[in-house]
Amino acid sequence: MARRDSNSTTAISPMNGADLGRAVYDPTAPSAIEVERIVKKYGEFTAVDDVSFAVKEGEIFGLLGPNGAGKSTLIRMMTTLIPITSGRASIAGHDVAKEPNAARRMIGVIPQALTSDLDLTVEENMEIYAKLYDVPAKERKHSIDELLELVDLTKWRDAATKTLSGGMRRRLEIARGLVHHPRIFFLDEPTTGLDPVSRVAVWEMLGNIKERRQLTILITTHYMDEADRLCDRIAIVDHGKLVALDAPMALKASVPGSNVIEAQFENPPADWEQKLHGLDDVTSVQHEGAGMYRVLTGNGSRTTTQLVEMAVGASVPVKSLSVQNTTLDDVFVHYTGRQLRDELQKAYAFVMPQRPGLQP
Ligand SMILES: Nc1ncnc2c1ncn2[C@@H]1O[C@H](COP(=O)(O)OP(=O)(O)OP(=O)(O)O)[C@@H](O)[C@H]1O
Ligand SMILES: [Mg+2]
Repeated sequence: MARRDSNSTTAISPMNGADLGRAVYDPTAPSAIEVERIVKKYGEFTAVDDVSFAVKEGEIFGLLGPNGAGKSTLIRMMTTLIPITSGRASIAGHDVAKEPNAARRMIGVIPQALTSDLDLTVEENMEIYAKLYDVPAKERKHSIDELLELVDLTKWRDAATKTLSGGMRRRLEIARGLVHHPRIFFLDEPTTGLDPVSRVAVWEMLGNIKERRQLTILITTHYMDEADRLCDRIAIVDHGKLVALDAPMALKASVPGSNVIEAQFENPPADWEQKLHGLDDVTSVQHEGAGMYRVLTGNGSRTTTQLVEMAVGASVPVKSLSVQNTTLDDVFVHYTGRQLRDELQKAYAFVMPQRPGLQP
């Protein structure tokens, strides 16, 4: 089983030692999900704009994009929750518009908002779902036992859900979403709002579950590191459009330059960005404010040497310097012209006004 490319400069990665079982993309494998030229309009506004992709059986497929990109809207259409304006989606060969019930039987869905009942115990939350999905009584206990074990909540089965941490509650909801043995599992931002340790626990758990249950997983996220570690292939969506789709390594290889130098200088002169651009092998330079520059280069060590020599020669002190391999952040900038983190900050700072005429 191939280990992921360990290309970050982070010395200690929380994922070291874990094997998430990345599958090799096989274009001839049967499709679990197919989306063809799908569009969702809300009045004049196009939330999803002519998106097509296919997810192969057994893949972990990531939909990556900033707030408002259209990720949840795509999931809602694929999972029969909202009507499709045009185009089509099918789940294991069932057209979601024509055979919604057949499609629904194949899927488990973890929506973006937490939905477990706080007043029930962990086991009661599982039980209710099992009954709702007609899991035969004699299978219920076994399935619940197995799933609670998989998400490491066995000893919490009698605890009230309101006493769980956010990460544990998310794990409970993931276990609950699998109680009827779906083949295709949709997770909408399962780790947003979790602390880094809980996020890693959720990733590892998803990797284990996928192996045990032979699932196809479609997951949305705006965490680049998560998509990079977890997904076999990633679709980057922005403003409702699909802007790139490939394996994480191939996406990174598609960006000109193979290293990123992040350097902070004290009082750099006005033409510093231009000067950085003039160094050998540099393909792009971004000024991030406060004397911080992000430099993409095809040769990290040569550019670093030249950069330091230039700074010494110009008496511009270097406050910090790091060299990394290209990340999915750089892929996002390359395909959208913007930093994902800026987009996320903007979205958090902006309180959405009430929209008139909301419609499904
Ligand atoms: N019911 C609705 N009526 C009108 N506009 C909507 C509705 N639902 C979503 N939108 C708009 O469609 C766009 C896509 O929203 P969506 O929730 O799919 O984004 P997202 O990628 O899931 O974002 P987030 O990361 O914030 O969850 C946004 O601009 C959103 O405001
Ligand atoms: Mg969403």
